[in-house]
Amino acid sequence: MDDQLAALEAEVERRAAQVKTPGDLETLRTDILGRKGGRLSQVMAGLGKVPKEERAEFGRRANETKARIEARFAQAELRLGDAELERSLSQRFDLTFPGIPPRRGSLHILRQTLDDVAAFFRKRGFAIVFGPEVESEYYNFEAMNIPADHPARDAMDTFYLASGGLLRTHTSPMQVRAMEEYPPPIAILVPGRAYRRDALDARHAFAFHQFEGLQIDRGITFGHLKGFVSDLCRTLYGNERRTRFRPSYFQFTEPSAEVDVSCPVCDGSGCRTCGGSGWLEMGGSGMVHPHVLKSAGYDPEIYTGWAFGLGIERIAMVRNGVDDIRLFTENDPAFLEQFA
Ligand code: DAH
Repeated sequence: MDDQLAALEAEVERRAAQVKTPGDLETLRTDILGRKGGRLSQVMAGLGKVPKEERAEFGRRANETKARIEARFAQAELRLGDAELERSLSQRFDLTFPGIPPRRGSLHILRQTLDDVAAFFRKRGFAIVFGPEVESEYYNFEAMNIPADHPARDAMDTFYLASGGLLRTHTSPMQVRAMEEYPPPIAILVPGRAYRRDALDARHAFAFHQFEGLQIDRGITFGHLKGFVSDLCRTLYGNERRTRFRPSYFQFTEPSAEVDVSCPVCDGSGCRTCGGSGWLEMGGSGMVHPHVLKSAGYDPEIYTGWAFGLGIERIAMVRNGVDDIRLFTENDPAFLEQFA
């Protein structure tokens, strides 16, 4: 019977330590100490079979065991009480307390700018296509009517790769790639990164973003180009902005024109932002040169088209009053969060 008492005590010790709720503890207590059918009572019922001379000694030990079991339950009760108290305290929070707002990410201002441009083109049925940043001399220059040894290649300050290719200096090479892939008519927007060996300053970056617009069909004229670009500039800068086409020269367009927008800072009267001219240069444009159409396998006797290329950083700077192109890549939250 001593063994039975010891086993019961050991069991109580083990189970009391595992009990998780006051309800479970109560069930365990009844199971062990219950007056009718409790496990301790069952052991005690065997008292009659113990030899007379040992009975007193056994009764004493049984009472000691019972006292230790009760102490064990009291201890478990305290433990559960503490846990319960802690739980109820932690649930009691002040709903009127200001919360801690989670920090949300947002699109980079260059991405937002490009999204606005893309929405404009998409509405007009243009497809958006992307080209490789590692480009061949053929597509970057040759197909764009810039032959080897032409000084325009120097003007582009190209990064040449040891492997033989180059980092594209503009998004224009996609004109020919796209025309090779799709038969006319074609209307595409080509956003992407371009690279030039420019020294980094407030206006120049060696990696920057451009987008190219291209539309080729029968009967496309310079008027279509003017209408499209003017409309885009009004959408990007507001209805008050005027657009100006200044005669220029690009190898891949004929005629060629530089696109200027009236300065949003001084509205054309001349200020520091526009260098006193009242106009901001946005990019190049023109009617696609017959040589370029031919390179792509389009018949220049049947098809004509316009193309233009604008800088995304430039647009973002003018629209948001950003005066240093380096801010776009410095990842300073104080700058980026202004556009969140
Ligand atoms: N590719 C020229 C550059 O990066 C910009 C340009 C000029 C693009 C005239 C055109 C264009 O599509 O027609 O400087």
